[in-house]
Amino acid sequence: TRIFLDGADPQETRQVIAALGFLDGQTTNPSLLAKNPEAEAHKVAGNKFSSTAIYDFYKALCQELSALLPKGSISIEVYADADTTVADMLTHAREFDAWIPNAHIKLPTTTAGLEAAAVLTGEGRRVNMTLVFSQSQAAAVYAATRGAGRGDVFLSPFVGRLDDRGEDGMDLIKNIVALYGQSDGHVQVLSASVRTMDHFLCSLAYGADIITAPAKVLLAWAEAGKPIPGPKYGYNAKGLAPIPAEALSLNKNWREYDIRHPLTDAGLKKFADDWNSLIDMNS
Ligand code: E4P
Repeated sequence: TRIFLDGADPQETRQVIAALGFLDGQTTNPSLLAKNPEAEAHKVAGNKFSSTAIYDFYKALCQELSALLPKGSISIEVYADADTTVADMLTHAREFDAWIPNAHIKLPTTTAGLEAAAVLTGEGRRVNMTLVFSQSQAAAVYAATRGAGRGDVFLSPFVGRLDDRGEDGMDLIKNIVALYGQSDGHVQVLSASVRTMDHFLCSLAYGADIITAPAKVLLAWAEAGKPIPGPKYGYNAKGLAPIPAEALSLNKNWREYDIRHPLTDAGLKKFADDWNSLIDMNS
C-alpha cells in the first residue's frame, strides 16, 4: 500500500516526509487549495485571485509538490460544476498534465467526467476519478478506462463522507477491492476522505492500493511507530451494516452502470464553491 498526503500546503509535505521518512504522493482538491495558508491570506485580505491568476497559483503549488516528491504522484483536480462540458475538462486536464511530469488528473465520477477519462487515458494520460461513493461507479470507471496502463487510473472512494451520513465507508473500500479482485490492475483503489487513524489502519487491512490521509493522521501514525492493523481496528465491530455486495460485472459498457449518487453531486458543488471562493468574479 502506498501512502499519500491529502493536502495543499508544501510545508505540511516537508513535515510529513521528515516524520515518516518517505511519502509516495499527494492529492489536492479545491477545498484543500482554499485552505492553503497563502490562498487563505489572499482571501482574508479581500485580495482574491483573478480567474487566470488562480491557475498560476495552483501550478506553482503543484510544481513545488512535484519537486518534493519527484518519484511520487501528484493529483491535480479539474474544476467542474454540473454544467462543465467534457471539452472544458479536457482542455484543463491537458494543461495540468503539462505542468509536472508526475500528475494524475482528478475528474469527477459523473457522465462528463467518465467521458473525459476515456479520452485522456486513450491519450496515455493518468487520471484520478474522484467523488466515488458506490460500487457501480467503481465498475463504470473500470469499464470506461479499459486499456489504460497499470496504475494509470486511481479510483477515490470517499470513506469519511459516507460515515458522515451514517453509512460505513470502509465497507465500500472492502467491496471495491473485492470487485476489482479479478481485474487487470489498470485501476488502483485510493482510499480517500480518511479522517481518523481507524480509517487509515482499516484501509491498510482491507488492501487499498493507496491511502491518502491528512497530515494530522500521518503524523499521528509516525508518532505511534507506524503500527500495522490489528484486532483493535476491527472496523465492523462498530456494528454498522455492511453495504451489500452488488452483483456487478466489470465487462459492460460503462454507460450501462447507474453512476448517480447524491454525495457525488453535493461534493461537486462544494468543490466548485470552494474554488470560486478564491476568485474575484469581476476579474
Ligand atoms: C482526496 O483525494 C479527497 O479529495 C479528500 O480526501 C476528501 O476528503 P474530505 O471528505 O475530508 O473533504
